[in-house]
Amino acid sequence: MKKYNVAVVGATGMVGRTFLKVLEEKKLPVENYYLLASSRSAGKTIEFMGKDYVIEELTEEFFKTHKVDIALFSAGGSTSEKFAPIVAETGCIVIDNSSAWRMDPKVPLVVPEVNPDDIKWNKGIIANPNCSTIQAMVALRPLQEKYGIKRIVYSTYQAVSGAGMGGYSDLENGIKGEAPKKFNHPIFNNCLPQIDVFLPNGYTKEEMKMVNETKKILGDDTLKITATTVRVPVFNSHSESINVELKTPFELDELKDVLAKAPGLIVEDDIDNCIYPMAINATGKNETFVGRIRRDESIDNGVNLWVVADNIRKGAATNAVQIAEKVIEMWENN
Ligand code: A2P
Repeated sequence: MKKYNVAVVGATGMVGRTFLKVLEEKKLPVENYYLLASSRSAGKTIEFMGKDYVIEELTEEFFKTHKVDIALFSAGGSTSEKFAPIVAETGCIVIDNSSAWRMDPKVPLVVPEVNPDDIKWNKGIIANPNCSTIQAMVALRPLQEKYGIKRIVYSTYQAVSGAGMGGYSDLENGIKGEAPKKFNHPIFNNCLPQIDVFLPNGYTKEEMKMVNETKKILGDDTLKITATTVRVPVFNSHSESINVELKTPFELDELKDVLAKAPGLIVEDDIDNCIYPMAINATGKNETFVGRIRRDESIDNGVNLWVVADNIRKGAATNAVQIAEKVIEMWENN
């Protein structure tokens, strides 16, 4: 098998460091890894694959002088906006974790268990969806395929790690009584019904990401979707209540069976023994977990789900590395 050159851009960040962990676990056919970040980190070393890697500065020059096949980007929206097209121009496939390119019609938005074929029409940039959208897609795609989906109501309980190192520190320091730096209000002992900035329609950007990205990934612009996204004082892993109105009637046992057979999804639903997905159990795992599966008795064909996943792994790093695996698979089969 051919070996490829892979760069990790933003290797010192919260998601970047998890990229490295997932890459160590997955063992892709890679000849050379390059770890990049800003000038602030250039020259520092990171231990990876059992050796010390020197961090290099992300510059246009770097990609012109190094042959890189795949670049995993998680260095913020403005960095992706500027560098992704420049890097793609060199023939490298950029898998971008920021929101910069997600809604661009020329850029596929991919969850490998859900819409892997969209990778085929990439023009150099493939976008990794928003963390809260990814885990919802893993649970909803099998229901869409079997019953069709009319309407979705998302209510999220999102961990501070989704806001990067700064979000994590705000909870750690808030426990000690210190004022927040990243969030507008204390996160310790609190719930913040604001993730990202507010938009003119009164929704937050995070909420509209869930609405718009769901439609793009599930390939259905007619879906009716609403979302309320909330930051909660949990270090890691997002939890979501998802209310779904299906197009056709269903038997609950059969629906549970459909979910149990879905790729990347694990059903944890044994209420007699108080078993359901929880953030503390999902952390460190690559799968998405679903439980509390029950009929919405207020409407025809309605179902409620509780969906939990590690937002830094499946919600970001794992999903991006899975996309890289699919890209390599595609190259190998051509
Ligand atoms: P650095 O550590 O050098 O600042 P997080 O979201 O956890 O804060 O991580 C952000 C990541 O993006 C870090 O690796 C950070 O590198 C990187 N980054 C931020 N700005 C740039 C930039 N202009 N060029 C390259 N990497 C950047």
